[in-house]
Amino acid sequence: MAAIGSAIGLGNIWRFPAVTYENGGGAFIVPYLLALLTAGIPLLILEYTLGRRYRSSPPGALRLLTRPAEAIGWWQVAICFVIAVYYAAVLAWAVRYIGFSVTQAWEDNPDGPEGFFFTDFLESAETPGEISTFVPGVAWPLILIWVLVLAILIAGVRGGIERANLVFIPLLVVFFLVLVVRALTLDGAGDGLDALFSPDWSALDEGGVWVAAYGQIFFSLSVGFGIMITYASYLHRRSDLSGSALVAGFANSSFEILAGIAVFATLGFMAAQAGVAVSEVSDSGVGLAFVVFPQIISEMPGGAFFGVLFFASLVIAGFTSLISITQVIVSAVEDRVGLGRRAAVLSVGGAVGVVSVLLFANDSGLYILDASDHFINQYGIVVAALVLVVTVAWVTRSLKSLQRDADATSAVGLGRWWRICLGVITPLMLAWMVWDSLTDEFDENYGGYDTSFLLWAGWGAAVGALVVGVLLSLVRWRRTPRQPAAEEDGATTATGTSTNGTTGTTGTTGTNGTTDERGQ
Ligand code: ALA
Repeated sequence: MAAIGSAIGLGNIWRFPAVTYENGGGAFIVPYLLALLTAGIPLLILEYTLGRRYRSSPPGALRLLTRPAEAIGWWQVAICFVIAVYYAAVLAWAVRYIGFSVTQAWEDNPDGPEGFFFTDFLESAETPGEISTFVPGVAWPLILIWVLVLAILIAGVRGGIERANLVFIPLLVVFFLVLVVRALTLDGAGDGLDALFSPDWSALDEGGVWVAAYGQIFFSLSVGFGIMITYASYLHRRSDLSGSALVAGFANSSFEILAGIAVFATLGFMAAQAGVAVSEVSDSGVGLAFVVFPQIISEMPGGAFFGVLFFASLVIAGFTSLISITQVIVSAVEDRVGLGRRAAVLSVGGAVGVVSVLLFANDSGLYILDASDHFINQYGIVVAALVLVVTVAWVTRSLKSLQRDADATSAVGLGRWWRICLGVITPLMLAWMVWDSLTDEFDENYGGYDTSFLLWAGWGAAVGALVVGVLLSLVRWRRTPRQPAAEEDGATTATGTSTNGTTGTTGTTGTNGTTDERGQ
């Protein structure tokens, strides 16, 4: 449930519908499913297996794989830091918009929702990167979000994270089902769904469509950030890894399709009201949630209720993802620096919160967010995932033994396809993605921003994460992770021999569950 909570987030609600629409509509499902099956789920299983085998967060786990790989782990921690600080800011906006939906606060602005969002609410600067005003309207909800995240993290993996997900995920599903039903009963909903799902098969000839599918799967499934290594490090030895990965992967995609239906049925309504084509009203990301949706809320019957449900769903979906992203940072500090949980959460988690408020509760927050999101995704998550799969598949050549580990306790055996996906298909696709994005980057500046701004807010975030990762891996930390007992004995965990002496056999589903204690 926690893995599903991490996967389902902003990427599902505001990214997937637009990415699908812009990349061939119904035809996009083909590269999307291939990306899910050849990269997303295999990588999820890999991260689960690494986490459970080494029972440590990414720096410790990857150090045990091979000493230099600790840098990849710290790099992922730094990537999580960058994502956490801006992800929380979007949640803070959504919190405010729950209230704005009730009063439809944007109606007083002569420029409508657009003017309200950029000028009244965010107080956006004319020039990206010039910070001159503190924006309390963003700061307060942002502080609230961080207090709640830290409180849940202090309560521990079982008492905090697991419990929060057990409450929030069912609640999210209920909210979203109500939204979908409401959306489908609006006038024009059918046109919206036609626009989303009508397949444009010629799109499949374009390389960019395939790159978009793999990019969507990575962000959406939360793979490549180290989150799943961290979560799996708390699993019991005999948890069914492949089965859990399949459930998490398909649950995430099902939610994504549900979000696509809700968003496009609603856009169909808006287009019908304005008497224009759906293509004229569709948008993604910030524009979709904070400009287009408020417009729809004003136009539809019962709009306030619909608005509250929509923004509350955004907050819940993003909140469970933010918890998982911050947990990577906190557990790395616990594992390697040796701080207790409370001290780690308050010091490191608190520092993440302070940076988040300083960087995003100001008049340049939106621009910084846009640039850092683009660069950390394209050159953080994707490149770190590429280095990780190449290390596991080709440097340490560990895929076979990790496969035995996973198979020892999973109902579904991973045939040779798993190794082919991770050893060949995933690295090739990731390398192509990086190349494709880099050529775009050098063609024109991302978002039309100034080079000087992109150098610190975009490249600075992505390259900074790598540099910090390498530097942190050179530090001699107080605590050094130990190889799991079964490995020290020369036996392999693949036989199912766990550290507490119990033996699992291939095909045993085992006991699923988590623990705050590692080493069980
Ligand atoms: N997987 C999370 C999302 O989709 C990060 O937003």
